[in-house]
Amino acid sequence: MLLLGIETSCDETAAAVVKDGRQVLSSIVASQDQLHLPYGGVVPEIACRAHLTAILPVIRRALEEARVRVEDLDGVAVVHTPGLVGALLIGVTAAKTLAWLRDLPILGVNHLHAHVYAAALEREAPLFPCVSLVASGGHTSLFRSRSPIEHETLGATLDDAAGEAFDKAASILGLGYPGGPNIDRVARAGNPHAIAFPRTRLGPDSLDFSFSGIKTAVLYHCRGQNPRTPRPPLTGQEIADVAASFQEAVVDTLVEKLLEAVRRVGASRIAVGGGVAANSRLRERLADAARRRRLEVVLPPIRYCMDNAAMVAGIAWPLYTAGRVSDLTLDACPTERRDKRLTA
Ligand code: KG4
Ligand code: ZN
Repeated sequence: MLLLGIETSCDETAAAVVKDGRQVLSSIVASQDQLHLPYGGVVPEIACRAHLTAILPVIRRALEEARVRVEDLDGVAVVHTPGLVGALLIGVTAAKTLAWLRDLPILGVNHLHAHVYAAALEREAPLFPCVSLVASGGHTSLFRSRSPIEHETLGATLDDAAGEAFDKAASILGLGYPGGPNIDRVARAGNPHAIAFPRTRLGPDSLDFSFSGIKTAVLYHCRGQNPRTPRPPLTGQEIADVAASFQEAVVDTLVEKLLEAVRRVGASRIAVGGGVAANSRLRERLADAARRRRLEVVLPPIRYCMDNAAMVAGIAWPLYTAGRVSDLTLDACPTERRDKRLTA
C-alpha cells in the first residue's frame, strides 16, 4: 500500500511516500530555518507564507523521487493536530484537495504520535508495546504506547518544551536558531558539571516536565540578576560550560522521568522521537541506560527525529488498516483533543 504523507505543523514543509508503513520511498523536507533565524524563533505568519510557496513543489518532488504517480497512491495522510493552526491548515487543505480530486481516502494524523512512529520506519522487529518520549520544539510528552495508534499520556510539560528550552538557552548564549544543534555542538568543549542548573522534578510521583526554571537560571547566570550591573560577556569557554551544564540538566530530567515511566509500566522497550532525540548526549545516555538495565532503546535516525512526513505516511498505514479513515470534514486543530489515547 502506497501512502503520501504531508506535514506542515510548524516550520518545515514536508511530503513523503511510504510503502506498507515501513519502506520510505521518498522524504522531502523544505526547512524554513533561514527565514526564522533573524527572529530567534518561529514567526507563524512567515511560516504560513513559506508553506504556501513550498507545499506543491514539495509534494511533486516526493512523488517524483518515489517514482510514484498520483494514480498509484492508495491514500493521503496529513498532520492535523497539534501545531500552529494556520500552518496546519495549509497541509490539511492540500491533502483534502488531492483526496477530493483523486477520490482517495484521507487520514488525519497526530503529530506527536507520528514522532513515536518514526522509530518504526525501516525497522523489521516490532516496536510496540513500548514507553515512548517525544521531545520537540513544541512538546515534551511521555506515552504508554500500546500500539502504533494507541498512546496513553503519562506525562507532559507544564510550560516550555525541552526543544524550546534549548532554543531559548541558545539565544541567551548568542548561539542562534535553532538552538538545539548549536548547544549540542558547543557543549562538546564544555564541562557538564561546571554549573549546577536545576532539575525540576515536580514531586516524587510526577511524570510531568517543567523547563521554564532552567531557562531563567541560564538567563540569570549569563546576565546577572541586576540589569543595572550586568555581568561582562562570557568567554568562549564559559559559553561552552553553560551549554554543557544546561544540556546535562535537561538530559538528566528526560532520562530520569523516562526510566521512571518504564519502571511503572514494566516496559522493556523505549522509543524516543522529536527533534531533541537528535541530541548526542541524550542518545549517549539512553544507550548507556539500555546496556545497564537491559532495555531496548529505539532511536530513529536523525533525519526522522526532526519534523518529516515519512513518519506521517508511515503511521497512516496502521490507521488505514484499523479503519480509522477521516473524511473531507477533517479540520486543523492547534491543540490535542481531550481524548489523548487515540491518534486521529
Ligand atoms: O521535532 P522538531 O523538528 O519540531 C517540532 O515538532 O517542534 O523539533 C525541533 C526542536 C527544536 O527546538 C530544536 O532546537 C531541537 O528540536 N533540536 C535539538 C537538537 N536538534 C534539534 N535539541 C537538542 N539537541 C539537538 N541536537
Ligand atoms: Zn515535531
